[in-house]
Amino acid sequence: MSLTRREILAATGTVAVAAPFLTIPSVRAETRPALPIPPIVSPDENGSIALTAEAGQMRFVDSGMTPTFGYSGPFLGPTLRMRRGSEVEMVVTNALPEEMTVHWHGLVIPGVVDGGPHQIIKPGGTWRPALPVDQPAATLWYHPHIYPATAELVIKGLAGLLLVDDDETDALGLPSTWGVDDIPIVIQDRRFEENGAFFHRFNLAAVTVGYVGDRVLVNGTQHPVAKTAKGWLRLRILNGSNARTYRLKASDGRTLHVIGSDGGLLEAPVSMDELTVHAGERFEVMVDARSGEAFDLVTLPVAGSPIMHLPPFHQALSLLTFEPTGAEGNGTLPDRLASLPSFPNELPPVSGRFTMDMNLDKEGMGALMKAGIKRVMAPGGPPGEVVKALTDLIVNGPTLPLETQLSANAVNGKSYELAEVPMNVPRGQPLRWVIDEGGDQMLHPVHIHGCQYRIVSLNGKPPVPHMAGWKDTVPIEDGGSAEILVTFPHAAPPEAPYMLHCHILEHEDSGMMTQFSVT
Ligand code: C2O
Ligand code: CU
Ligand code: CU
Repeated sequence: MSLTRREILAATGTVAVAAPFLTIPSVRAETRPALPIPPIVSPDENGSIALTAEAGQMRFVDSGMTPTFGYSGPFLGPTLRMRRGSEVEMVVTNALPEEMTVHWHGLVIPGVVDGGPHQIIKPGGTWRPALPVDQPAATLWYHPHIYPATAELVIKGLAGLLLVDDDETDALGLPSTWGVDDIPIVIQDRRFEENGAFFHRFNLAAVTVGYVGDRVLVNGTQHPVAKTAKGWLRLRILNGSNARTYRLKASDGRTLHVIGSDGGLLEAPVSMDELTVHAGERFEVMVDARSGEAFDLVTLPVAGSPIMHLPPFHQALSLLTFEPTGAEGNGTLPDRLASLPSFPNELPPVSGRFTMDMNLDKEGMGALMKAGIKRVMAPGGPPGEVVKALTDLIVNGPTLPLETQLSANAVNGKSYELAEVPMNVPRGQPLRWVIDEGGDQMLHPVHIHGCQYRIVSLNGKPPVPHMAGWKDTVPIEDGGSAEILVTFPHAAPPEAPYMLHCHILEHEDSGMMTQFSVT
């Protein structure tokens, strides 16, 4: 049997899909893994959920087993499911050989149970936070938040989805059979050492551009096939990558109907040809698969970020294939989804300004320039010697001394300090904050704990419709800024403050984070 180039690539998990977007036959699906569906875990009769962070191993590459971390399993974690109005007691055990925390990203809860860098769980220890769940239905996630090693723990596999349900959303008739027409999609890029271990190194390249993987895992698997219902599919997309942005598109160009953002449903579906998702962001997307025809979810090269054009991301790259040939689904796409509060006629005065600063930007960018980063977007693809020089910086650049790492980046000119809480904000009051970027050439997805906010303006303009709903992470571009309207309903004492940080985890771990109390 002779294989086409695409089939060979498919078998090795690196399918490159040529534009224009034709329907891709699902080649050699039998040799490809099925999309793993993380099991749902709901509170038991006592309202508790147990979660154990543990070490394990997985086979991702032929060259060797990969040592991993996971929650209640070797890699990633179960999908936690909670209902609005309930209080869930999490019983989190740390069976790792090192300290960690678990942060409930997007859950609007008090500072003492938020799981930020101050709520450390020692090896062998157990933490029992009670989470009061009171916010609209949403696709959230959880991950460690230990300073300064969040990036490394997430790379090793600590991350999972957290779903909030409510009655209004249940009544909409959205696809809701888990793994059948309600599909979790956790996208993460990785790079491997020769012995199979995950690559991770805190060097100049890392503190400058963040983690640069050379392959993609979807729910912990390379280039899987999702056999789904034949009908409307609801994709719950999490960009769980440390730094990478994805520009998602269906291989046959079918419409992506965006129904939800970080903190819940939009007012109405937004039809899009492609959807950009930054690190830490979630979007819920409906796709019409009633015809039963297969399609791929692909990621296109991300304009404005040369480093993200390194192969295999210099062209359309297939992330996974959908084969919607199962039983007929009965979910529908409603015209109206949720009602969001309108903005007050008069916005409060600006009471917070946050600038993302890169202290080692000159050195970092200088080295990347010398390696030829400007030529990475050359027509015809990145020249071989540029790929080699950039990869060398990423992989072999020497690890920075810890002190240098911790001061490489900053917010408002100050690198993060665990023991310093520079700001207190009033509880329960709408606040107008401005987040901008200090003139480096990077995009920073900025995340805030303890809230879901609304974007008032992004780069001086009202947000496009799919960015106008509840958000907890906002992309600040080179020279750009965001104005947000935010309220903190819960308290966060100085000993358990909330974080505001760049969700490029290498930036977070190198100082681009600040904290504040709420009283
Ligand atoms: Cu998803 Cu402060 O983190
Ligand atoms: Cu968070
Ligand atoms: Cu950043």
